[in-house]
Amino acid sequence: GTRAGLVRPPVESPYLRPRRLRRTPALRELVAETTLRAGQLVLPVFVREGADAPVPISSMPGVVQHTRDSLRAAAVEAAELGLGGIMLFGVPTSKDAVGSGAVDPDGVLNAAIADVAAEVGDALPVMADLCLDEFTDHGHCGVLDAAGRVDNDATLEVYAEMARAQAAAGAAVLGPSGMMDGQVAVIRDALDGVGATDVAIMAYSAKYASAFYGPFREAVDSSLVGDRRTYQQDARNALEGVREAQLDVAEGADLVMVKPALAYLDVVRRVRDAVDVPVAAYNISGEYAMVEAAAANGWIDREAAIMETLVSIRRAGADVVLTYWAAEAARLLR
Ligand code: PBG
Repeated sequence: GTRAGLVRPPVESPYLRPRRLRRTPALRELVAETTLRAGQLVLPVFVREGADAPVPISSMPGVVQHTRDSLRAAAVEAAELGLGGIMLFGVPTSKDAVGSGAVDPDGVLNAAIADVAAEVGDALPVMADLCLDEFTDHGHCGVLDAAGRVDNDATLEVYAEMARAQAAAGAAVLGPSGMMDGQVAVIRDALDGVGATDVAIMAYSAKYASAFYGPFREAVDSSLVGDRRTYQQDARNALEGVREAQLDVAEGADLVMVKPALAYLDVVRRVRDAVDVPVAAYNISGEYAMVEAAAANGWIDREAAIMETLVSIRRAGADVVLTYWAAEAARLLR
């Protein structure tokens, strides 16, 4: 006899035919499990201090270091496209050991936050990278101790000041990306202490030390020598990513993020299943560059590869996707 629950494939001709639901575009639309909307996409952008024309980033074809004016225009376009947010990174002209430019209200990032916030208001959530690496002359995400190690607790004090400066400039969402222990709690406390209770925190929670950040280092004129392995996570660890996300939720994160996305889709899924706040995933510079390079060589269909990439990140469980293709994808989705 046949065991209960065991479906035996028929010998003659199959009567279970999954292809029935793939026959037409309308049927495929009917049963599509994963959605992709402009409102789920966040556009990361770079703004370069003192630039009078946008500067192309050679390893990220199509992405530029904006001037303050071209950034404003990009933000207006992002709002018109209905994107879920714009994430700002600053490229300062001068750097020092403690990243002073990050806490200066007139520093490139804080000035850009104010520009964009004035331009788009609440129509487009203005998000700010909260990290020192663009502002330090050694390129690390924090300040160093006498032995040259990244000093966790001394860095937290600078992050608190940076959070207050970004909130004062008008940021709606802060994105701490430095992987310092306790950073979310310290930033929440700093914000609440100045009455910025409405400013949200999207924590880069499970952030891995990755070779795929390569093009970003060009994008921000990074000064880093060496690596970030004492604070970013080891690629071999997934449980640790879940723990980092849970700690950030406990510290008050409003959203948590997994980064990079593609080589870590299992972590995206595990974090999605483990926490009860929205989960973001960052489709990073190297992931962008790989598709652009292959497409430029005629090796893959660029637009199809972009959409498949973004859908895969959503299918893995990301509620929000940060991607340099956000504006283009939104246009393709129309
Ligand atoms: C650190 C930061 C990095 C990225 C975003 N925030 C670089 C790093 O950790 O080395 C990478 C983004 C990308 O590669 O697209 N402030």
